[in-house]
Amino acid sequence: MLTLGILGSGSGSNMQAILDAISRGGLSARIAMVLSDNPDAFILERAAINGIPSGVIDCAAHRSKFPESVQQHTARKLQDAGVDLVCLAGFMRLVKQPLLDAFPSRIINIHPSLLPEFPGVEAWQQAIAAKARETGVTVHVVDSGMDTGPIILQEAIPVLPDETPGQLHARLQIVEHRIYPEAIKQYSRNFKL
Ligand code: GRF
Repeated sequence: MLTLGILGSGSGSNMQAILDAISRGGLSARIAMVLSDNPDAFILERAAINGIPSGVIDCAAHRSKFPESVQQHTARKLQDAGVDLVCLAGFMRLVKQPLLDAFPSRIINIHPSLLPEFPGVEAWQQAIAAKARETGVTVHVVDSGMDTGPIILQEAIPVLPDETPGQLHARLQIVEHRIYPEAIKQYSRNFKL
């Protein structure tokens, strides 16, 4: 069975969607470890509620950096938990070596736009500011760039007239919750994880 590790900084609704897919029998996997760089993130509470081991990635001294020594420690924790595939779910720091080297092509991310359009933060806001007629959700393999790397799955939705950024983000999250478990299933099957 596929063993997942999750890195997140926020609410963890995507992790919840993965858990829900597992309990529905839609994804044959287990989440072995949840790590967050934000000690107050709700994703850690979700982990506790579901009895999943979790921990804090201590980047307190760094606003947005993910220092090499901390990445090394993170990689060890995930390896010790027997993780096959690392899923970034709202993780707000850029993953670089050595974490990438520890899990080559085994770290994936979900992003609320049709990449390569609108990488970076608040992609839904970027879509509205650009007057895009459609946007969407992408699940991709993580490389050392920001929201780059081979695409696993994408789904488009229209941007509605007069929609607020919050409304668009809420509609994008519905798509995220459906396609992240599906992308994990496809990716792990293709790579025989
Ligand atoms: C999602 O919109 C995801 O695409 C983005 O950050 C958000 C995380 O939401 N990278 P959640 O923590 O999974 O609820």
